[in-house]
This record gives sequence, structure tokens and C-alpha cells, in this order.
Amino acid sequence: MKSLISWISVQQVLLIFLYLLGVLGIVSFLQLQSQFPQQGQKIASPSDPWQPAPTEQGVWTVNSLGRLGNQMGEYATLYALAKMNGRQAYILPDMHQQLALLFRISLPVISRFRAWRIPWKDYELHDWMSEEYRHIEGKYVRLTGYPCSWTFYHHLRQEILQEFSFHDHVKEEANRYLAGLRGQRRNVTYVGVHVRRGDYVRVMDERWKGVVADKAYLEKAMGYFRAKYQEPVFVVTSNGMEWCRKNIDASRGDVYFLGDGKESSPGRDFALLAHCNHTIMTIGTFGIWAGYLAGGETIYLANYTLPDSPFLEIFKPAAAFLPEWIGIDADLSPLRSGTPG
Ligand SMILES: *[C@@H]1O[C@H](CO)[C@@H](O)[C@H](O)[C@H]1NC(C)=O
Ligand SMILES: *[C@@H]1O[C@H](CO)[C@@H](O)[C@H](O)[C@H]1NC(C)=O
Ligand SMILES: *[C@@H]1O[C@H](CO)[C@@H](O)[C@H](O)[C@H]1NC(C)=O
Repeated sequence: MKSLISWISVQQVLLIFLYLLGVLGIVSFLQLQSQFPQQGQKIASPSDPWQPAPTEQGVWTVNSLGRLGNQMGEYATLYALAKMNGRQAYILPDMHQQLALLFRISLPVISRFRAWRIPWKDYELHDWMSEEYRHIEGKYVRLTGYPCSWTFYHHLRQEILQEFSFHDHVKEEANRYLAGLRGQRRNVTYVGVHVRRGDYVRVMDERWKGVVADKAYLEKAMGYFRAKYQEPVFVVTSNGMEWCRKNIDASRGDVYFLGDGKESSPGRDFALLAHCNHTIMTIGTFGIWAGYLAGGETIYLANYTLPDSPFLEIFKPAAAFLPEWIGIDADLSPLRSGTPG
């Protein structure tokens, strides 16, 4: 009998202990959650942070996928589609973390905990605007995919440029750097060059039946600006700088290779490109956004997959590149001869 009683009390003590452990866990989780809002100043803070804001406008968000260029595309698409549908847009903490370091973005952040409690309706987007996106049903919608097309947001261009305006210290650093490249030139024109390499070199070839920019493309694009502007300065950024140093002719003294091309810190490269007057991009959303923000002339690599590439099912060139941008056709012969470069 005695041993049974002591067994029960041991069990009770154990239960109480587990209960306390649970409470502690929840408390520390809540504390973690409450740290997120401190990162951004513009957070909508409803009186009850555990419930979605009780607003008629609902809560719309977008997945936070990929790196800088993708995040910008997702942000701008959410901004435009929420507005079109009369809904309030919120971004997830991950997206805020990636974008707020550089830009004065204004969309409020939803905490992880709130986001987790909302019964989202996922809505998958393809990468161009469609009529049906003007009438998306639902108060709690999470847009999904990798949208990055001017067709979603170009009608709001001024607002989007405002969202992606740089913090002063970023702006000052970029301008200081560019001024340092000017040298003795009196009438300088800065051309930002973004050469996307890395995983794309393999993926374009193996998966998408496509190519990346080659030496001849860059030579042509730079030739365009050399012919048109008195004293161009080419500011080259890349995640494959070694390839650039080998393949871009810098003998005229007007080419500057930037930084170490580390993919994990693209912010500085991006700010520099966006502060140039014109853009030479190759492929990828990073270059597309650099051209969009720089706002001058943009040259892009065109027709860089075979016509039967599955890439063209998810990517519409006309929705990716603004009509006034200048395309230079890629040389697809390496695909046919089997020597990707
Ligand atoms: C500066 O260069 C541009 C073209 O690059 C030219 O149109 C303009 O006349 C030049 N200005 C001066 C003062 O030389
Ligand atoms: C070219 O870019 C530089 C650096 O951002 C800027 O100071 C200058 O005003 C721009 N020139 C033109 C003609 O837009
Ligand atoms: C790319 O291919 C299309 C279709 O063949 C063609 O109309 C276009 O002129 C090509 N080049 C560019 C720069 O778009």
C-alpha cells in the first residue's frame, strides 16, 4: 500500500514537472516571437497579437523564396495584387530580413506565430499577369511561386521604386564608390554589368536546354555603350568573377571588376548596379531588378534557350523584359555541338 502511494506521488511530481516544462517552452517561444517586430519599425500591431487583425481587408502574404531578385519579385507582386484586390498585404519575417537591410520597404510584417495560426489559402502564380489575378477570392491568401514580371506591377512603377528606394547609408556608399571610379573623366556614364554564373551555367545546359551569356554577348553589349557614350565606365559584378576576368576585355581601361562576388552578400553589388546610369544584364532576376531600378537603357540576353525548352513554359520573355529594353540574341551553337561554356 505504501509503495503504491509513493508511486502515485512520483507520477504526480513528474506530471507537474512536465507541465512546468511545457509552460516554460511556450513562454520562451513567445519571447522569441516578440523579438521579430523590433527589426522593422512599420509593423502593424493589433491589440491582440495572437489573432489576425480583424480587418475587412484580410491578410494577404507571399512566400519568401530564393535570393534577393526573387524576393523583390515576390514583394512587388504581392504589393500589386493585394492592391488590385483591395486586400492588406503583409510580408513574412524572412522576406523582411532580406529586403529591409537595403530598402525602405513599407509593407507591415506578420509575425511567424500569427502567420502560423492563419488558415491560409495558397494561390499559385505563374510568372506573368493574368486576368484572373484581378479577382482572387479569400481573406487569407498566401501567394506562391517565383513571380518576377513587370506585367504585375509596372502600372505602379513609382510606388514600386519608392518601396525599393535604398537607405541613405547604402546610397551614399554606392555613390562614393562610383565617384571613385571616375578618375580623370569629365563626362562619365556608368554602365552596371551583371554576369550571372554559378549554378546557372550547369542548370541552363542540363535542365533547360539553354546557355548563359558568353564573351561575344558581353563584347557586343559593351560595344553598344562605347559607341553611344563619350566616357563609359563598366562596373562588373558577378558570382563568377574569375570567368569575367578571363573573358571580359579590360584593356581599354574602362572596365572595373567589383568585389569578391560572394553570393551571400549581394546587397552591395546590387546597390552599385542600381546606381549606375545603364545596365547590361545576362540572365536572372537580380539583373532584371538592377535594370528596372537603374532606369536607363538595359541590354539583356535574348532567346537563350532552344525553342522547345521546357523553360519557356514557365518563363515568358515578353513579360520579363520591358519592351524598351534591348535584346541581343544568344549564340545557341554550343548547345547543338555539345560544348557548353
Ligand atoms: C557628355 O556625353 C554625352 C554622351 O555620352 C553627350 O551627349 C554630351 O553632349 C556630353 N556632354 C559634354 C558637356 O561633353
Ligand atoms: C549617372 O549616374 C550617376 C551616379 O548615380 C549620377 O550621379 C548621374 O547624375 C547620372 N547621370 C545621368 C545623366 O543620369
Ligand atoms: C528572339 O526570337 C524571336 C522569335 O524567333 C524573334 O522574334 C526575336 O527577334 C529574337 N530576338 C530578340 C532580341 O528578341
